[in-house]
Amino acid sequence: MTKIQLPGVSFPVSCLCLGCAYYGSRESESDSFYLLDIYYERGGRFLNTAHEYGRGLSEQTIGRWMRSRGVRDEMVITSKIGEDLTKPNSRAMRPHELHEDINETLSRIGYDYIEFALLHIDDPDIPVESILDTMEEIRQAGKILYYGCSNWSVERMTEADSIAKKKGYKGFCMNEIEMNLARRSIPNKDRSTKWLDESFAAYHRKTQMAVGAYSPLAAGALTKMMEEDGIERLSQYGRTAYLTPYNMEIARRLAALASETGYTGAQLQIAWLLSQPYGFPVFPIIGPRTPEQLIDCLGSLDIDLTPGQLSYLKPDRGVYIE
Ligand SMILES: NC(=O)c1ccc[n+]([C@@H]2O[C@H](COP(=O)([O-])OP(=O)(O)OC[C@H]3O[C@@H](n4cnc5c(N)ncnc54)[C@H](OP(=O)(O)O)[C@@H]3O)[C@@H](O)[C@H]2O)c1
Repeated sequence: MTKIQLPGVSFPVSCLCLGCAYYGSRESESDSFYLLDIYYERGGRFLNTAHEYGRGLSEQTIGRWMRSRGVRDEMVITSKIGEDLTKPNSRAMRPHELHEDINETLSRIGYDYIEFALLHIDDPDIPVESILDTMEEIRQAGKILYYGCSNWSVERMTEADSIAKKKGYKGFCMNEIEMNLARRSIPNKDRSTKWLDESFAAYHRKTQMAVGAYSPLAAGALTKMMEEDGIERLSQYGRTAYLTPYNMEIARRLAALASETGYTGAQLQIAWLLSQPYGFPVFPIIGPRTPEQLIDCLGSLDIDLTPGQLSYLKPDRGVYIE
């Protein structure tokens, strides 16, 4: 699998990151190990998890897999800290909470450091400076190599960039945010998680900060919307977030291109992200549930979309550039 260089990071990472959100919970340990083995055999070395996923089961499963295969030195691990679903607003960004999270994350994974720790969900009530001071402390203690954010607003990321510059900190190395061919119909201000709209695209073009694109298949909604009975199979969230005329048109175009090229809808969506037609570095974080889905997703690595196909898949020119 090709590796890409993220700006400001000293080592390259696999161009396709494996999302492990449900490992050890929805997916059993043996099913999770099987998915990890397939990804590894295809050259994948970049895993994504979070302190909150499965209340620790995801991190534990990844750690056990790396130990059982003896591959820790080859892998790059991202985990996310600073979210606590037991709290009414999910946020846990005070210094002692971030320290507790990273210590627990490392003990669950079973190694003394991870490469990337991201702040999972922002808490605008906590000053950015206090959060950055804490992440620098964690980095300088050798528990992480780099830190970044997820689901932060452009305003707070910009503030973090200027504080980091002023204080000589490493600052954020990446932003993990929803990014896919769909447009989520729930506005960013109405949810704590964020999707990459025009304002985020402008920020990333200007700063060249890398994007970890989560939900690259719009949580599976677009592939379902390509099929005749697919709308009935959308989850309640899938309907609310993605069932719009714009996204139906994207699904129609995906189906047409799939039938013309022989690639699947999932492959085309991931290949579109891998083609980077938007002016800043992006790596998709895929979330296949089954081995068949994973093998299908990995097929996107062999696709070269033509400029005509890339622009066919994006009828709006807002977020993306040629
Ligand atoms: N930072 C954050 O706040 C955040 C939020 C969300 C996710 N993430 C990260 O991103 C990862 C991926 O997110 P995601 O699960 O939303 O990704 P996704 O790839 O957009 O959606 C995954 C779903 O798509 C469907 N799917 C996957 N591969 C398919 C294929 N080849 N053909 C047809 N359908 C396919 C499956 O739906 P069915 O199960 O219905 O078959 C699967 O459950 C997570 O594991 C996590 O690490 C981060």
